[in-house]
Amino acid sequence: MSIEFSTLEQRSLAEVSHAFNMAFSGYFMEATINEHELSRKIKMEDLRLDLSPACLKEGRIIGLMLNGLRVQDGCKILNNCGTAVVPDERGRGIAPEMFAQLLPTLRSESIAKCQLQVLDINHPAIRCYSKLGFKKNRFLESFEGRLDGKILQPDYLFCKLQINRSIRDLKSWWDFNPTWQNQTESILNSANDFDGIELQVNGESLAYGIWAKGSGRLIQIAVKPSHQRAGLGKTLMHAIQARIPHPLMALDVERNLDNPSTFFEQIGMRKIFGQWEMKLNLAQAPG
Ligand SMILES: CC(C)(COP(=O)(O)OP(=O)(O)OC[C@H]1O[C@@H](n2cnc3c(N)ncnc32)[C@H](O)[C@@H]1OP(=O)(O)O)[C@@H](O)C(=O)NCCC(=O)NCCS
Repeated sequence: MSIEFSTLEQRSLAEVSHAFNMAFSGYFMEATINEHELSRKIKMEDLRLDLSPACLKEGRIIGLMLNGLRVQDGCKILNNCGTAVVPDERGRGIAPEMFAQLLPTLRSESIAKCQLQVLDINHPAIRCYSKLGFKKNRFLESFEGRLDGKILQPDYLFCKLQINRSIRDLKSWWDFNPTWQNQTESILNSANDFDGIELQVNGESLAYGIWAKGSGRLIQIAVKPSHQRAGLGKTLMHAIQARIPHPLMALDVERNLDNPSTFFEQIGMRKIFGQWEMKLNLAQAPG
């Protein structure tokens, strides 16, 4: 049987989304994508199909790796936004070979680092990435829950947050860097797909939240550091819930070792899964 390695560049969205769904079958959670969602993901997450390897068997995609590229702090970073091999072909070294085939291109494009997220219970994938030289960098937790949306502080004003380049300045309020899909670049790449509010007191903006329209998926929430631990975050979350019919989901929250009982659990959400963020410095990669 002839096996070849290529990229996803010349493949149609229909073919890539079909291959993605086949390769992720039997995954720990629902992981399907349609053509429209794939096209949005490409735009939002800066996916580069020319840097996304595919493994073909008799012309059919049996393994794929979706990769995005961004320049951050002057450094080119490749983010792996999904890797999978169809169930019958797993355990035959296809994922490592796809990565090995990509390595010369990454080096010639001066890409310095690669990163990915993997479920903490996905031992085959963790083993596969570790063998490629990826190291665990930080632990991320995800939470879900429906709040009652009650108004906790009637004198606070909530205004619509304008989703434009000015949201870049809110970075100074963060206590951890968001993962790729929650980064400000992802939001600005597709600003019409997001909604946000800010909480104001005496005309001063003290907290904000941004979520994906049509879902309860929070992308960013933050309280100005000088006003943290004063109930503003909880008030903000209830105000967001009052505007969204779906349960809220906070994905990829960095575990804070100093304060393991997180904000999201304290306000009544439950942990739904944990993930490792893994990184590879290409200067240290084998090959
Ligand atoms: C994770 C995945 C991409 C690895 O690809 P792969 O081509 O099977 O990689 P490898 O052949 O190097 O196997 C990696 C590990 O998978 C395990 N494995 C072996 N046979 C397997 C099989 N039939 N089914 C599943 N896992 C198997 C082994 O533990 C192997 O590690 P080992 O070589 O040290 O024993 C693939 O298992 C997959 O598609 N899984 C479902 C989707 C997924 O979890 N993607 C990762 C999201 S972060």
